[in-house]
Order: sequence, then structure tokens, then C-alpha cells
Amino acid sequence: MSAVIVAIDGPAGSGKSTLARRLAQTLDLPYLNTGLMYRALTLQALQRGVDPDDADALAALAREITFDLDWRVRPPELTIDGSRASEQLQSADVESRVSRVASHPHVREVLRAEQRRLSERGGVVEGRDIGTVVAPHADVKLYLQAAQSERISRRINERSAPAEPVGDALSARDALDARTNPLRPAGDAVAIDTTGMTSDQVYEKALATTRGRLAQRGRR
Ligand code: DC
Repeated sequence: MSAVIVAIDGPAGSGKSTLARRLAQTLDLPYLNTGLMYRALTLQALQRGVDPDDADALAALAREITFDLDWRVRPPELTIDGSRASEQLQSADVESRVSRVASHPHVREVLRAEQRRLSERGGVVEGRDIGTVVAPHADVKLYLQAAQSERISRRINERSAPAEPVGDALSARDALDARTNPLRPAGDAVAIDTTGMTSDQVYEKALATTRGRLAQRGRR
């Protein structure tokens, strides 16, 4: 039997990462944050002076990065060239360019192949296109959404940053991301609107949905 995959998609700030890590821990599965892979590529492009519109150069760079899982931690998590994700991946420089980098089909092909390889042994996989393209056969598909004002205020709290640039950056990223991946759930995904919910409430709801779906499929 193939390994269990839980796909979690949704826009920036909808609460995916907190939920995905916690679910992975509970279900004893690896946690794969695919946004970090696009961010890592963006950071390396910045450091090496690669143009975020040069699809071929970016795809070549993506092939040079070694993505893996660290199986020594619980839940097992992504490593990039042997190290866990750095703070730099959340910087404003990366964030303002990542949507452009992620928009190239050639780049996405390279990273999607890596995402499938990394989830061969199962996982809670978080991103934008997991339930639709990366793992259309996922056992469970969750789609998180939240009102834009709430997604912005969560970011401000997470990063202790001033409101205006955070709001502008998030709106800009939403618009660019939507051109690459339509911000809507896969037909067979369960949508959870996290507006006004605490992270505990989101977790309880997602866990109940996940357990229900896995039981239906005779998986756990
Ligand atoms: O999840 P995140 O905000 O860290 O993702 C960073 C960027 O990467 C996001 O703006 C869109 C892109 N992304 C993507 O195109 N496909 C994914 N599966 C994950 C992220």
C-alpha cells in the first residue's frame, strides 16, 4: 500500500505551517513545507545574481540544491543543502521575489519532482498545488482560507513588523501567486475557513477531518 499523504493548500497566512507541523507530529509522518523550497531557490538566485525572470537559469539552479528530510527530528523536516531552513528564507527580499521565481513552469517541474520524491514515504505536505498537481492522489486534502485582514494581522504578530508594508506585501503576493496557482480548493478537498479560529481549533477540526477520511479509505 502506498504511503499516507495529507495535502494542505491555501494562501499565505492562512495557518498552513502551524497546522501541518502539528498534524505531522500526531500522525507520525514527515512534514514537508514546499514553500520553503521556492524560498530557498529565490535566496540562492539573489545571492548568485540570477535574474528572477530567467527560467532556465533558475531551473538549473534548482537542480543544484540538495533537498532532503532530516529523519532525526520529530516530525522529520526539510533540509536544504544539509541544513534546516534559515530565518533568511522569511526575509522581505525573498518574499518580494518568490512569487516570480515560482511562476516559471520549468522551475515548478524541477521542484515538483523533488516534492514527489520527498513524499514517497508519506507526509503532511504543505503548499499551493499539492492536492491539485503534486499529489492528486493524496488520501486527505485540506484547503485553508482566512479573511485577508486576518491573514495580515497574523503575519504582523508573527514577525513583529509594522502593519502597512506587511499588508501591501501580502496583497501583492496573493495577486502574483493567484496567476500561478488559482487560489481555490481541489474538487475533493475539505475547505476550512480559519477566520476567527485559534490554532488549537483549526488543529482539532483538521485532525477530525483527517482521521475521518483515513478511516473511510481504510488507511489507519
Ligand atoms: O507557503 P509560502 O508562503 O512560504 O510560499 C512561498 C511562495 O512560494 C508563495 O508565494 C508561492 C510559492 N509556492 C508555490 O508556488 N507552490 C507551492 N507548492 C508552495 C509555494
